[in-house]
Amino acid sequence: MMQQQHHHHQHQSKHPTTSRVHFTCTLLLLMFTPRVDSSWWYIGALGARVICDNIPGLVNKQRQLCQRHPDLMQSIGDGAKEWIKECQHQFRQHRWNCSTLERDHTVFGSQEAAFVYAISSAGVVYAITKACSQGELRACGCDGGKRGRAGDGQGDFDWGGCSDDIHYGIKFAKDFVDAREKMVKDARALMNLHNNRCGRMAVKRFMKLECKCHGVSGSCAVRTCWLAMSDFRRTGDYLRKKYNTAVEVTMNQDGTGFTAADRHFKGSAKNELVYVEHSPDYCLTDRTAGSLGTAGRVCDKASRGPDGCEVMCCGRGYDTTRVQRVTQCGCKFKWCCAVECQECQETVDVHTCKPHTRHTGEAWMDTT
Ligand SMILES: *[C@@H]1O[C@H](CO)[C@@H](O)[C@H](O)[C@H]1NC(C)=O
Repeated sequence: MMQQQHHHHQHQSKHPTTSRVHFTCTLLLLMFTPRVDSSWWYIGALGARVICDNIPGLVNKQRQLCQRHPDLMQSIGDGAKEWIKECQHQFRQHRWNCSTLERDHTVFGSQEAAFVYAISSAGVVYAITKACSQGELRACGCDGGKRGRAGDGQGDFDWGGCSDDIHYGIKFAKDFVDAREKMVKDARALMNLHNNRCGRMAVKRFMKLECKCHGVSGSCAVRTCWLAMSDFRRTGDYLRKKYNTAVEVTMNQDGTGFTAADRHFKGSAKNELVYVEHSPDYCLTDRTAGSLGTAGRVCDKASRGPDGCEVMCCGRGYDTTRVQRVTQCGCKFKWCCAVECQECQETVDVHTCKPHTRHTGEAWMDTT
């Protein structure tokens, strides 16, 4: 579960800004660049210049932004951990499980790519905005525009505390993440820009007003309110739904926009994720298609859904291993206030997909 804390009434410097840029940072920026030995990143004493010059795969504009704002790179790196975790959570029961496989991004125009671009852009907005509010960055802070009095459905209130400055987060994410896509003008670049924007907007969509009441014995005569981002899970759930309804598009002749591939598509794709290539089935390992295959994946024998052994294993069948698990059991509430449990040994069957064999003739048959 994701944990997130907002400290709206104080500026905190939780972590001293170090010049260490996390490896995850590169995962976010360019999931497709070759792996670099992680010792590279242990650069304690080096300056921004050296750091930014050594993050592989940054385009010029990104390198410049990195040099100007090395502290933001740190936030982006921290944010990457969060969106990768969220992506893996959303797709934990699917053949494609958001494994961040190195791949050549020239073959990455699928529905899954649409989701990855959207959620990673959202992750950058989220991480930077949060770091701004926590006073960790030089370039930004709380939303300075939220001052004085305002009102909502429940009456007037005073702006107070620290409103999340989502506009700064969005602007930076747009400058930084989109820079790469602006280098080329093809369908995939256009697709990525579109999905990046969807991701940024998703975070904004879940901004909410939080208030504190003041007044005689808790009456809400006087309210102080601030705008805050919701938990990143909200964005993850939303984009996951958008993944389900993603629209296949083709680029217009003049290269400035899209048309839905399905002539019967009604409405606007403006707020939908879009993709330009069909996905592989992710059953087999195919590095060029960005598929790790499902051999060895855990599946649920009882499920008829995507996590069921039938679907997950693509009909190759599964192996069953019996494992001992220790669980908490027989928990008792003790006055006051503790819960005491015993440890129980439990035997469970774990099913994992069989690897692919050359002659799996009868697909979809349960071969176990
Ligand atoms: C995703 O699937 C791959 C391939 O089966 C597996 O190696 C990996 O551990 C999985 N990742 C997660 C986060 O479950």
